[in-house]
Amino acid sequence: MRDTPAMECPFNSEKTPAYYGDYLGIEKLLELQKPLSLQEGKLIAHDEMLFIIVHQAYELWFKQIRHELEACGEVLSKPAADDDSPDMNVVVHRLKRVVEIWKLLNHQVDVLETMTPLDFLEFRELLHGASGFQSKQFRQIEAALGLRMESRFRPDYYKHTELGGFNAKDLEEITEFEKIPSLLRLVEAWLARMPFFDEAFWSEWNETNPAADSKRPHFWTRYRQLFAASLSDRDDQADLLRKFDDIFFETGWGDFSPASLRSALFIMLYRDEPLFRLPFALLNALIEIDEQLATFRYRHLQMVRRMIGTRVGTGGSSGEQYLQGAVNKNYVFKELAGVITFLIERRNLPALPVRLHKALRFSFAEA
Ligand code: HEM
Repeated sequence: MRDTPAMECPFNSEKTPAYYGDYLGIEKLLELQKPLSLQEGKLIAHDEMLFIIVHQAYELWFKQIRHELEACGEVLSKPAADDDSPDMNVVVHRLKRVVEIWKLLNHQVDVLETMTPLDFLEFRELLHGASGFQSKQFRQIEAALGLRMESRFRPDYYKHTELGGFNAKDLEEITEFEKIPSLLRLVEAWLARMPFFDEAFWSEWNETNPAADSKRPHFWTRYRQLFAASLSDRDDQADLLRKFDDIFFETGWGDFSPASLRSALFIMLYRDEPLFRLPFALLNALIEIDEQLATFRYRHLQMVRRMIGTRVGTGGSSGEQYLQGAVNKNYVFKELAGVITFLIERRNLPALPVRLHKALRFSFAEA
């Protein structure tokens, strides 16, 4: 019989017990709120404490988001990240956590909005030069996701060390950070190497295929027909078909190659196949992160309108105008979400070739 180790009574242990406040560094944490309007022990602008705590809470959550994104990047950087491996499951799980954190962050705007514009004016001028625009972690999250500097609204605003810009150290760190492959790049490469269109799967496919196009796998010739038939009179049919050809076979879209977008569309179409559930969940989580980030930009803009109207920001940008431009333009996975335009009804989907179908049901050995 195996000896079971005696369970140690936590209260008799020789080890120094952990202590809540020490473990979490609470004392240090609570020393970090230093309102500028504090004079001789009296806080002149009462709401400055709220302003500081809300910002700090954002930055703590930003740290957690960076932690999650970094871990996802490590898995996706593996040369053959398996589509159905425990690894991929962890990536999806972590991305979903990022979505939930963003939802929380968006809700936090409500708390700050309990401050009135007049309360804010009591300490606003003390912030001259400082702004959330200078949040290094926010820029790192944008970069880790894949928002390129040159694709933003007013890229000229970012990389400088003048008043309202970054300090030299932060600027250098952000620039270094941008060199790490982003989630977008890694996901693009992962999609592009999907093997669905290997000839071995399709050689015996006998779905109606009237005008075979040697440049395209038969599936896509057929799919294009079905897509054309699915368009209504009100859709600009010629334009959408031209886009279909461009996006999936010629130029790609944004940072996504045609091959990667074909895989994304294929995954979205056949998402009910067991092997596609994780890849679909991954694409969906990315689109949702973008949506939550856009919601943050929008909620933040509304709050700014309420707080300062159309005055310039403390960081020196045009304020409302700049933020509105960022809401409209600064998306990361817009093209991935755009693939949805090209879906057709489930009931009209072509049946997959038996070999591929089997493969997608985990029976590679029989394929
Ligand atoms: C009274 C509340 C707030 C006001 C009036 C305000 C105002 C502004 C303004 C005017 C800008 C544009 C840059 C500039 O300063 O010229 C800006 C940018 C920004 N703010 Fe705030 N903000 C507030 C609260 C927050 C909070 C709580 C956060 C959370 C971290 C935040 C994060 C950001 C970020 C990340 C940017 C850059 C946005 C981008 O470039 O897309 N702000 N803010």
